Amino acid sequence: MSDKPHPLISFAKSRGFIYPSSEIYGGLSAIYDYGHYGILLKKNIEAAWWKAMVQERDDVFGLDSAIFMHPKTWIASGHVDGFDDPQVDCRQCKSRFRADHLLENYGYTDDQTDKAPLDYLNAQLDALRHDKKLTCPNCGSRDLTSAKRFSLMVKSNIGSPTDDLKEENVVYLRPETCGGIYLEYKNVVDSLHPSLPFGIAQVGKAFRNEIIARQFIFRTREFEQMEMQYFLKSEQMKEKYEQWKKDRFAWYLEYGISKTKLRWYKHAKLVFYASAAYDIEYNFSVLGNFKEVEGIHARGDHDLTQHSKFSGADLRYFDQATGQKFLPHIMETSVGLNRLMLMFLDNAFTTEKLEDGSERTVLKLDKRLAPIKAAVFPLLRNKPELVDKAKQIAAMLRKEMMIEYDDHGNIGKRYRRQDEIGTPYCITVDFDGLKDETVTVRSRDSMKQERVAISRLLEYMAGGERRGTPKKN
Ligand code: GAP
Repeated sequence: MSDKPHPLISFAKSRGFIYPSSEIYGGLSAIYDYGHYGILLKKNIEAAWWKAMVQERDDVFGLDSAIFMHPKTWIASGHVDGFDDPQVDCRQCKSRFRADHLLENYGYTDDQTDKAPLDYLNAQLDALRHDKKLTCPNCGSRDLTSAKRFSLMVKSNIGSPTDDLKEENVVYLRPETCGGIYLEYKNVVDSLHPSLPFGIAQVGKAFRNEIIARQFIFRTREFEQMEMQYFLKSEQMKEKYEQWKKDRFAWYLEYGISKTKLRWYKHAKLVFYASAAYDIEYNFSVLGNFKEVEGIHARGDHDLTQHSKFSGADLRYFDQATGQKFLPHIMETSVGLNRLMLMFLDNAFTTEKLEDGSERTVLKLDKRLAPIKAAVFPLLRNKPELVDKAKQIAAMLRKEMMIEYDDHGNIGKRYRRQDEIGTPYCITVDFDGLKDETVTVRSRDSMKQERVAISRLLEYMAGGERRGTPKKN
């Protein structure tokens, strides 16, 4: 990110999408709160994901597992010992950086630094230090420490207050949601009796003690993940992996992300148990680069093997057709909900010059994701007959979708306010309409106005949708 904050960041705050957390106490680094339009947008993105991943399929089941899990979960998964980032501190200004991100400032690429051993990172830093090139990005000091490992696991504790400090009461806030899926895999098999291949999907909070330098909601310490673990026979992996790659990429296009802003990133270095790992990357204007939004990983039988070993539970799948018992392999799709929200805002945030020379800011969100589906205005706020009719229409629409009623300022200003939050339709009640039960409907993107019968309003707005009727958020 450049030194000057991108206008989207101040826009997101001033228009009620995203607020820095705990601001009145000076803020809490890399934690954010979501305002009225933010939570509506976030829920719509989640619903769009859930629809594609669960509702429209007959082989994926839903789950909502707890944030706290048995501490052994994270020992079995390797997180307690190995989920860490290489950290470099500035002794002068006390800023903290990820060594791999620091090296990127000097032309190193992800391929060279991602998951690179500490020795390698320190050798590169030493070379830069030797050439007197290595400086703190924050204060310019040359007094930077070597890289050391910093655990991303966030600890908490449960039990009575007197037990607080005992090691056995330490629990972790989950660093990824898939852990809960692995632990509930057996219950899902025993209760729903699915045939392979099948998936389990869930949406929920995850926590990581990230070392972060100003990335807005791209990388935060508390965030939501939407993950799906697909259980299959090893011989099914290749075909299903390719299919999921296609399906997930198509989802971005369906919701209005242009192909030119998306690309695949193939991980060159794989963990020992994985057979493939690709990321979908989006070209964020707010971050000035292509960055990962979603990972699609072929994980083999590593997760179930580890959890069988550490829990002692038999997690083998019984195949009725062959009479065989075996541990299924897993491929996952994993995406951050907050990161997707940043992507959709980044993609939709537009400033346009109008014919009259003025400018408008408009959020060109897919209508299914727009926080508010329609706004209803009386032409004049001091004419009770217009106000009554507009309020009646607002009450009727409110039962079907999120709408707003607005009678402040002139119509032009009301349009601008709705454009800014991405509302697809503005509906104005005027005197002509009182006579023939019609309203004017103005579309966000074309700014064209049409006269529509009140009785046809829902149908009209549904027709404008690319698919289906706008649903209540
Ligand atoms: N279970 C696999 C897993 O968690 P990951 O690449 O660490 O893989 C998956 O995370 C996705 O979760 C990322 O592509 C990103 O969208 C999101 N994500 C990860 N860390 C995040 C953070 N600190 N803040 C926001 N989103 C994050």
